[in-house]
Amino acid sequence: MINGKFKGKDILSLDQFTPNDFKILFPLTKKMKNIGFNARPSKLLDGNIVTLIFYEPSSRTFGSFSAAVKQLGGQTVEIQNPQVFSSVAKGECLSDTIRVFEAYCDAIVIRHYETGSAKKAADYASSVPVINAGDGTGEHPTQALLDLYTIHEKFDRLDNLVGVVGGDILNGRTVHSLIRGLCRFKKNTLFLLSPKQLRLPRADFLYFRDKGINLIEIQSEEEIPKIADFWYWTRVQKERFKNLKDYKTVKNRFIVTKKLLEDYGNKEMILMHPLPRIGEIEQEVDSDPRAVYLKSQIRNGMYVRMALLALILGKV
Ligand code: CP
Repeated sequence: MINGKFKGKDILSLDQFTPNDFKILFPLTKKMKNIGFNARPSKLLDGNIVTLIFYEPSSRTFGSFSAAVKQLGGQTVEIQNPQVFSSVAKGECLSDTIRVFEAYCDAIVIRHYETGSAKKAADYASSVPVINAGDGTGEHPTQALLDLYTIHEKFDRLDNLVGVVGGDILNGRTVHSLIRGLCRFKKNTLFLLSPKQLRLPRADFLYFRDKGINLIEIQSEEEIPKIADFWYWTRVQKERFKNLKDYKTVKNRFIVTKKLLEDYGNKEMILMHPLPRIGEIEQEVDSDPRAVYLKSQIRNGMYVRMALLALILGKV
């Protein structure tokens, strides 16, 4: 648990966050927006080096962490695809790789294809904090932080919300972290719209419900409630399927079009997506003022990561 003490903490799961932690993180994120958006100089991370090691591809998480460190005057060691561009290609194990890079830096940001790998990396790295940038189908905590910030920015609250989550709820680690985050607040309801094969695992469904969130599984667009505050659409994750045929039967089953938004959305809602999208939101929707996925949601990713780094490196 963080419990207000960010300095030196590994960031592995949204379960670590209390409502009070958001009260620390979000105002700081707003300050970071002033630095990032208005190109204000900052030396907050002057002298700090952060290693970004990504075993899976990434545009946003890698790019925004890299930019976040530089916005605050720090530097990065960047390894994308270590399976090719590091000694992992020669057979080096995760524990050795992590122990090596912790010697060079003040924090490690890791993305890995295996669920639980970020926790393992945190156990191996005894002297620096580790941030989970996505571990298999497990969690993606910093994505959820930026998603929750984006929701909070719009509605000024994280309780008493109604959301619709569409797409791959089985494999979507961003969704898993988002639900964990919303469980921390009262009276939240999520409508889960996915093909049957891509539903939340039963054990997780029951676990989250026990935590107090109201989860309602729906099977068609017609069941989307008009009162929803946000829609959170996701990609069906091709890379998690064992065979392509199974993927093809469920891919793009639910697509957001202008008409769908018109029929089932309301004027005040926001439409979110962690990206990348591969057809599940039509490009004609991008210009709708409710569509925030290529606007505030993206920018907030860098701001929230700036704030998080400053906090765990003990700079604020
Ligand atoms: N949202 C997200 O994790 O995107 P990337 O895979 O591009 O980092």
